[in-house]
Amino acid sequence: MVSFRHVSFPFFLCLLFLIFLSPSTAGQPFQNCGTTGNYTANSTYESNLSLVLPSLASNTSLSGGFLNATVGQIPNKIYGLAVCRGDTNASVCRSCLSDAIQDAPQLCPYNNGATTFYDDCLLRYSNQRFFSTVDTSQSWIMWDPNNVTDRSQFDKIVDELMSAITDRAVYNSTRMFATGKMMNSTKTPFPEIYGLVQCIQDLSRSQCQQCLQSILEPRPTQLEGRQEGAVLAASCNFRYGTSKFFDGPSTLRLEPPGAGPGSASNYQPT
Ligand SMILES: *[C@@H]1O[C@H](CO)[C@@H](O)[C@H](O)[C@H]1NC(C)=O
Ligand SMILES: *[C@@H]1O[C@H](CO)[C@@H](O)[C@H](O)[C@H]1NC(C)=O
Ligand SMILES: *[C@@H]1O[C@H](CO)[C@@H](O)[C@H](O)[C@H]1NC(C)=O
Ligand SMILES: *[C@@H]1O[C@H](CO)[C@@H](O)[C@H](O)[C@H]1NC(C)=O
Ligand SMILES: *[C@@H]1O[C@H](CO)[C@@H](O)[C@H](O)[C@H]1NC(C)=O
Ligand SMILES: *[C@@H]1O[C@H](CO)[C@@H](O)[C@H](O)[C@H]1NC(C)=O
Ligand SMILES: *[C@@H]1O[C@H](CO)[C@@H](O)[C@H](O)[C@H]1NC(C)=O
Ligand SMILES: *[C@@H]1O[C@H](CO)[C@@H](O)[C@H](O)[C@H]1NC(C)=O
Ligand SMILES: *[C@@H]1O[C@H](CO)[C@@H](O)[C@H](O)[C@H]1NC(C)=O
Repeated sequence: MVSFRHVSFPFFLCLLFLIFLSPSTAGQPFQNCGTTGNYTANSTYESNLSLVLPSLASNTSLSGGFLNATVGQIPNKIYGLAVCRGDTNASVCRSCLSDAIQDAPQLCPYNNGATTFYDDCLLRYSNQRFFSTVDTSQSWIMWDPNNVTDRSQFDKIVDELMSAITDRAVYNSTRMFATGKMMNSTKTPFPEIYGLVQCIQDLSRSQCQQCLQSILEPRPTQLEGRQEGAVLAASCNFRYGTSKFFDGPSTLRLEPPGAGPGSASNYQPT
C-alpha cells in the first residue's frame, strides 16, 4: 500500500512529500509542478516545449547523462534540464527520459514548469531560469516502513556512510555522483548497507555540498531507524538501503566504525 502525505515545515519554508518506498512506487514518477503560470493550448510555448523535450531527452543519453538547454525567446523561452542517475547506461537513460517527456506535460498540464522524478532520471523545465541554483524547496521523502531493531546504532552507521559518499561526490567525482557500501556491519543485523548520492551537475561543488547537507542533516524523522530511505530534491538526492539498488560496483567501500585498529572510515575506491 502506498501512503502519501503532504506536510509543510514552516521553519524551513519547505514542502516535503512523503511516500513509502515499495516496489509499487519504485517506477512511478513524482512531480513538482511549476508556480510560474500556465500556457494555453496550441500556444508557441506549447509547440516549443514539444520540440525541445524530445531533443533534450535524446541528447542527454548521448552526452553522458546530463544536459541543460535554453530555447526560444521571452515570453516563450524555455529552460530545460535532464539528468540520469550516475549508474545508468545510455539505454536505461534514454528510456527513462522518454517516459519523462511523455509524463511531465500530463502530470502538470499547461503548467509552464515541471520537475519529474524517476528512479533513473529527472526532467525539469520552466519559463524561468533555474540553472545553478540550489533548490530543495520541494522534496520527496521515501522510506521502507520496516524499522530496524537498534535504531541509533543503525542510523549512526548510515550517517557515516552517507557522509563519506557525500565527500566523494562533492570533492572527487566529475559527475557529482557516488555510491558506497558499508561492509561487515556486525553491529546491525545487516551485513551490508548501500548508499548513493547525486547532485545535478549545473551546481558548483560547494552548492552540491550545501544541497546534500540540507537534505541529509538533520535526518528527516521519517527516516529514523528505517531499513531503506531516500530524499529526492530538484537539485540533489540520496538513497540508502540494506540491499544493493544500484548498478555496477560501489565507488567506496567502508569498514564499519570500530571494525579494527585504524579501520574506521577507512575507505578505498573499488
Ligand atoms: C494554472 O492552471 C491551474 C490548473 O488548471 C490553475 O489551478 C491555476 O490557477 C492556473 N494558474 C494561473 C497563474 O493561471
Ligand atoms: C488546438 O489545435 C487542435 C488541432 O489543430 C484543435 O483540435 C484544438 O481545437 C485547438 N485548441 C485550441 C484551444 O485552440
Ligand atoms: C540536440 O542535438 C542536436 C544535434 O546536435 C542539436 O541540433 C539540438 O539543438 C540539441 N538539442 C538540445 C535540446 O540540446
Ligand atoms: C547550462 O547551465 C550552465 C550553468 O548555469 C550555463 O552556464 C549554461 O549556459 C547552460 N546551458 C544552456 C544551453 O542553457
Ligand atoms: C518556438 O515556436 C515558434 C512557433 O511555433 C517557432 O516559430 C519558433 O521557431 C520556436 N522556437 C524554437 C526555439 O523552437
Ligand atoms: C544497461 O543497463 C541495464 C540495467 O542494468 C541492462 O539490463 C542492460 O543490458 C544494459 N544495456 C547495455 C547496452 O549495456
Ligand atoms: C516503525 O516505527 C514507527 C515509529 O515508531 C511506527 O509508527 C511504525 O508503525 C513502525 N513500523 C513497523 C512496520 O513496525
Ligand atoms: C579521488 O579518486 C581517485 C581515483 O579513484 C583516488 O586515487 C584519490 O585518492 C581520490 N582522492 C581523494 C581526496 O579521495
Ligand atoms: C568482512 O567479512 C569478510 C567475509 O566474511 C571477511 O573476509 C573480512 O575479513 C571481514 N573484514 C573485516 C574487517 O572484518
